[in-house]
Amino acid sequence: MTTPSTTVPWWHDAVVYQVYVRSFADGLSRDGDGDGIGDLPGITSRLPYLRDLGVDALWITPFYTSPQKDHGYDVADYTDVDPLFGSLADSDVLLETAHELGLRVIVDLVPNHTSDQHVWFQAALAAAPGSPERARYLFREGRGPDGAEPPNNWQSIFGGPAWTRLPDGQWYLHLFDASQPDLDWRNPEVGDMFEGVLRFWLDRGVDGFRVDVAHGLYKEASLRDQVRPEPTKARGGKKKAKAAESMVERVLNDEPMWDQPEVHDVYRRWRKVLDSYPGDRMAVAEAWTQTAESMALFIRPDELHQAFNFGWLGTPWSAKDFAEVVTNSIAAVEAAASAPTWVLSNHDVIRHPTRYGGGPVGLARGRAATLTMLALPGSAYLYQGEELGLEQVDVPPEARQDPSWFRTGEPGRDGCRVPLPWSGSAPPYGFGGPDSSTGSQPWIPQPTDWADLTVEAQQGDESSMLAFYRRALAARREIFSGADETTVATTRGKLLVVRRAGVTVLVNTSKYPKVLPDGEVLISSGPIIDGLLPPDTAVWLR
Ligand code: NOJ
Repeated sequence: MTTPSTTVPWWHDAVVYQVYVRSFADGLSRDGDGDGIGDLPGITSRLPYLRDLGVDALWITPFYTSPQKDHGYDVADYTDVDPLFGSLADSDVLLETAHELGLRVIVDLVPNHTSDQHVWFQAALAAAPGSPERARYLFREGRGPDGAEPPNNWQSIFGGPAWTRLPDGQWYLHLFDASQPDLDWRNPEVGDMFEGVLRFWLDRGVDGFRVDVAHGLYKEASLRDQVRPEPTKARGGKKKAKAAESMVERVLNDEPMWDQPEVHDVYRRWRKVLDSYPGDRMAVAEAWTQTAESMALFIRPDELHQAFNFGWLGTPWSAKDFAEVVTNSIAAVEAAASAPTWVLSNHDVIRHPTRYGGGPVGLARGRAATLTMLALPGSAYLYQGEELGLEQVDVPPEARQDPSWFRTGEPGRDGCRVPLPWSGSAPPYGFGGPDSSTGSQPWIPQPTDWADLTVEAQQGDESSMLAFYRRALAARREIFSGADETTVATTRGKLLVVRRAGVTVLVNTSKYPKVLPDGEVLISSGPIIDGLLPPDTAVWLR
């Protein structure tokens, strides 16, 4: 067994770039000019771009064999590559090339559910109720006359009931789409299978795993109904309604389907596997738990290394809220002796410039938030396209593909998953390689006004978003590498003030310019004019 290194491990303060595989770069040709869907050779061809951007690692969303009902989060074979994205040989080339360029690679692991096309689920469908094949999933009899009602009242995250009935009368649980049946982690076969999957990818050289729905694997054994709060009837005007609302927020939801104590045994087992490999292999949990304390349990020293901190995603443009998020996030991980993580955007949420109001104001705030995040301790997760200043796209209904759109009729997540513009002046903007300006249109149509946002267009322009991200990442490396001083976040009116390693970060969330204190301006997210920090701007001062 190899002992993990005693120096600070690479993931502790890494900047990780999330690659949404379908939408990053299309290298595989179906019709001589790309097929409009991103893939592994496409990623490999653009790795020098990521090295030049200045990130330390990339996290690649699932590229395994899958019917793509949830774009790869429905896995049919965990140890093979979907032909849509390439082959196992292509994944080897990707890993080798990334490592040559000094980039680490994190892959996605989806242990809560399989695809309904997985050989286990197909066997379960073919087998009888009560069979060992069905015991790998959560099959149950229904309630009511003839068992025609679902076994409990749980709802799918993508809308509608979390249960689907088979012609033989049994129901199976799916906390997401009906094509994503939940595994029964109380069955030891499931844990053994996933240990094999971990080892398969570790043997091929991956540096870590992003664990999908990490808090979901175990359900309360009884599968009892969820107790849902009564909708609040607020009487007595706006003030009382607001007070009532915040009281409801403080009460934790009853969640028998999430965050059960048994899940931690799984991560203890995985930690042993990860530690048995050389090179600080790691895992980061996607765990939407209800409190910072329960999140911290996932990153105890013998469990996973990190957990995404989604605090900032729900935070409005407010100095007070930002200070709270920073302070609470750091405190929550301190107890676990891990490192904080920061996320402003990913493939499931509205891109942050759009959340902050969109247009020039949203983009200015987006730059300021990014610059602030990059000054914080721990690791920062960037989402592809944010370095180009992409905003959420209003994808036309006929082009939407998110399973939640089909289940709920709500727009869903396609708007943050539009393929990247690389070059040229019209779709597909070089998405299929340099000659693809007349090639296949990408799987989600790109806006026709993205010509100025391509990598090619921004490359030589010092005032571009891309140039800003490169400068900011270089400054982070130079100024904060190895810094372990305490971070203090406070506010002065609507000014956020963060102090770390002799640097003061100021963010002006007010409507008025603020006088900058004395000090050397190391970098700012927008121009500093006459010693004034304009609204929606951040600066690092020393
Ligand atoms: C979280 C992933 O980020 C999301 O894209 C996916 O739909 C669900 N987990 C289900 O796997």
